[in-house]
Amino acid sequence: MTGSEHPKGPASAPDPPRTRAAMDSDWTALDERHVWHPYTQHGASPPPVPIVRAEGSYLFDAQGRPILDAISSWWVTLHGHAHPAIAEAVAQQAGVLEQVIFAGFTHEPAARLAAELLDRLPAGLNRVFFSDNGSTAVEVAVKTALQYWRNQGEARSLVAALENAYHGDTFGAMSVSARGVFTEAFSDGLFEVARLPDPTEEDVVAALQELLDARGHELAALIVEPLLLGAGGMRVWEAGTLRELRRLTRERGVLLIADEVLTGFGRTGPLFACAGAEVVPDLLCLSKGLTGGFLPLGATVSTEEVFRAFRSPDRRRTLFHGHSYTANPIACSAARASLALLDDGCEARRLAIERDHRSGLARLAGHSAVQRPRVLGTLAAFDLAGEEGYMSRAGTELQRFALDRGVLLRPLGNVVYLLPPYCITGEEVQGVYQVIEQFLEES
Ligand SMILES: Cc1ncc(COP(=O)(O)O)c(C=O)c1O
Repeated sequence: MTGSEHPKGPASAPDPPRTRAAMDSDWTALDERHVWHPYTQHGASPPPVPIVRAEGSYLFDAQGRPILDAISSWWVTLHGHAHPAIAEAVAQQAGVLEQVIFAGFTHEPAARLAAELLDRLPAGLNRVFFSDNGSTAVEVAVKTALQYWRNQGEARSLVAALENAYHGDTFGAMSVSARGVFTEAFSDGLFEVARLPDPTEEDVVAALQELLDARGHELAALIVEPLLLGAGGMRVWEAGTLRELRRLTRERGVLLIADEVLTGFGRTGPLFACAGAEVVPDLLCLSKGLTGGFLPLGATVSTEEVFRAFRSPDRRRTLFHGHSYTANPIACSAARASLALLDDGCEARRLAIERDHRSGLARLAGHSAVQRPRVLGTLAAFDLAGEEGYMSRAGTELQRFALDRGVLLRPLGNVVYLLPPYCITGEEVQGVYQVIEQFLEES
C-alpha cells in the first residue's frame, strides 16, 4: 500500500537522522533525537535539564549546578536523593538475588517487606499484592474490588470516585480519575463511574448517601485519595468526612479503596493518612515513596476478608493479575531500607517541615496573587490568582523563574505546591519561599 492510499493517515514527516550512538559524545543530543518524555509537549517545552547526579535535597546538572528538589521528583524521594542506606541495600541485594518470577516462587525481601508494611498500616489490613507503580496499584485495587463481588456471586460492578481525583494513567486508573485534559483523548475507552463531588466543594457524604439509596446494591467500591486530592489541585479535605465515608460504605458493605500513593509514608503528617484519620479501608494502594524514591514498586494491601473471597480450590476465582517485575527483590530491599529510615527520627523532621511551611506561607499570604494557602504535613500549596486549571500558564512562569534560581518546582497549572524530601533543612525551605516571594514581587 502506498502513502497516497491513506490521505488522512499520519503526516509523513521524514524520520530524523539515525545516530551512531556510540560515536556521539553529547548524550543530550541523543535525548533530543530519540527520547519521548512524560507529560511533555515536545513542541512547546524547553529542552529537559540534563542531570548527572543527585544527593540529599539536590540534583546536579551537567555543569555541576545544584537544583533544590522542592517536589521530591514527582513526590517519590522521601529521605533525600541517593541516600547511602538505601543505596547500600540496593547494591547488596543486586549481588544476591536480582529478580525471580513471583508466581510459584517467593523471596525474603518481599515477605519481610509485606510484614513490615503491615506493622505500620492500620490494623485489619493483612495481605500485600505487589506491582510496579501507583497506576498499577490502583488497577489491582479496582480489579480486586470488582472480582471480590463476582467471586461471591453478587452483581456489583459500579465503582464510585471523586471529582478532581487523580489515580494514574492506565485505563482503569484513568476511568476512576476525574475526566479532563489528561483523559479526553481516551474517553471512549474508559468505564463509567458514579462520580461524587469534590469534598472541598460540596457535601460528599450526602452525595454518597443518595447514591447508596439509589444504586447501593450495584456499588462495588468507592475509591478516594484520603485527605488530599493530589494532582487534581492539592485540595485538602477533612478526616471527619473520610470517617463518614467509611461509616456509610461499611454499613452497606461497599469496599473502600484508599489510594495512598501520594499520601503514604508520612506525607500528610502521620505515616498514613488513613491511620491519622483512624480509618481502616478494605484496600489501600501504595507506591511513590515506598522505595524511598529509588525503584519503581507498587503495593495493594487488602484485608483478610477481601483475600478470603479469592482463596478457593476453584481456579477461576484467582486474581489473574501480575507483572513481570512483581515484587522485584531489589525494589523490595530498597523499600525495607526506606521503612527503617522512617523510624529513625523522621517524624521530627516532618514536623519541622510543616512548621517551616506555615511560616513560609504566612510570608506569602499577604500577596494578592496568593489564594487559598494550605498546609497538610509536608505538603504546602496555594493557588495563583488568574486562570485556573491544569492548562493555566501562571505556574509555568514561576517554574522557569525558580529553575533559573536553582529550585525545582512544577506547579499543577495555577496550583503551586512544595513537597520536599524529609532531609531538607529549615534554611532550604525558607530559600524556596524567598524565590517564590521574589517571583510574586517581580511579576
Ligand atoms: C494518588 C495517586 N495515585 C496514583 C498515581 C499514579 O502513580 P504512578 O505515576 O506511579 O503510576 C499518582 C501519581 O501521581 C497519585 O498521585
